[in-house]
Formats: sequence, structure tokens, C-alpha cells
Amino acid sequence: MQDFMTMLRERSSTRNFTGEPVDRECIGLLLEAALLSPSSRNLKPWEIIAVEDPMLLTAMSAVKAHGSSFLAHAPLGIVVLGNPELSDVWIEDTSIVSVLIHLAAESLGLGSCWIQIRGRMDGTGASSAGRVKDILRVPPPWEPESIIAVGHAGKLDAASEEKMRPGRINAQLKEKIHWNGY
Ligand SMILES: Cc1cc2nc3c(=O)[nH]c(=O)nc-3n(C[C@H](O)[C@H](O)[C@H](O)COP(=O)(O)O)c2cc1C
Repeated sequence: MQDFMTMLRERSSTRNFTGEPVDRECIGLLLEAALLSPSSRNLKPWEIIAVEDPMLLTAMSAVKAHGSSFLAHAPLGIVVLGNPELSDVWIEDTSIVSVLIHLAAESLGLGSCWIQIRGRMDGTGASSAGRVKDILRVPPPWEPESIIAVGHAGKLDAASEEKMRPGRINAQLKEKIHWNGY
């Protein structure tokens, strides 16, 4: 396990995966991280679907017009579902689950990337969430918030390498912090 701040400094989203599968022990740790997520009033208004079936991953890679195609080449997709009837802050709670899976993957030396599903559409204007629900037979009232694509990181693309360079927290980014008032 890496030092947490070092891990945050070196973290990036991974969209390029080697063909190597993610072993069951690592998948178990990622799911444990999800189940350990904090949630408002401890309601845990989420459920998770771990997807390893390449046909399902390929089908889900086409549910958005942009930003999901790489899921077809990932060995694992973790779909985070939320229940709007259980909590008014299910979006926040499912987002926390999603980011903890992403960080747990990083801590295990795996690459991952959040794929936004809620509120998105495919190229024909059909709801991405509706398409994921059809593919995975998700019953109401469960709503897919995200899919976290996970795998062993392949070579970084130029844009990702640029983001990783030292000095990533530049002067402009530091202006986002305020003290004792805006
Ligand atoms: C709420 C949220 C939704 C995102 N949705 C997508 C997505 O649909 N497709 C994608 O490729 N990346 C997605 N990302 C990843 C961001 O593009 C990425 O975090 C951002 O560009 C910063 O890059 P970094 O994570 O490498 O620092 C999402 C990230 C967040 C937090």
C-alpha cells in the first residue's frame, strides 16, 4: 500500500489497458472498498454489479456517444447503482463509492476510469442509464450512476503524461483555495 498523498499526487485516470485480467483477490478488495464507503445517514443507497463478461463490457462501451468506448478493452467494469427512493442524496453517495473504487484500484497498482452514466445519452439520443439497465437487467428503482473501468494500465497517452508531470498543482489551480471566506 502506497503512502496516500504520494498516491494522490501520482494518480490519473486510465483508459488504456493491457489484456491481463484483474485477479479475484483484487476484485474482492475493490468491492470491499465500495462496501466501506461512507453514506448520508448510513443509508447505503447503492448496489454494485461487477462485470467481467467481455460481451457485456463491449455492449456497455457503446451506451454513450463519447467517453465510454475504452470499456470494450477493459477486463472489468464495476457498475455503481443508486436508489433514489432510499435517499435524496443517492448521487453523492454513489459518487463516493465510485471514487473509492478508483482510489482503491490505484492503491493496488491498477488503472481505472470513471464512466459517467447518469444524465448521459448514446449517439441516437437514447438514455445511457436505460441502456445499461437493459443490458444488465437492472430492476427499478435502481439507477446506474457510473461504471468504473478497471484493468492493468497500458502505456499512458500524451495528455495523461502531461497531467502527471511535477507542478500539476500550478498557481492557477491554487487560486481555487480560499481561507476564512471567499
Ligand atoms: C464525475 C466524473 C465523470 C467522469 N466521466 C468520464 C467519462 O464518462 N469518460 C471518461 O473517459 N472519463 C470520465 N471521467 C474522468 C475525467 O475525465 C478525469 O478525472 C479528468 O479528466 C481528470 O483527469 P485525471 O483523473 O487523470 O486527473 C469522469 C470523472 C468524474 C469525476
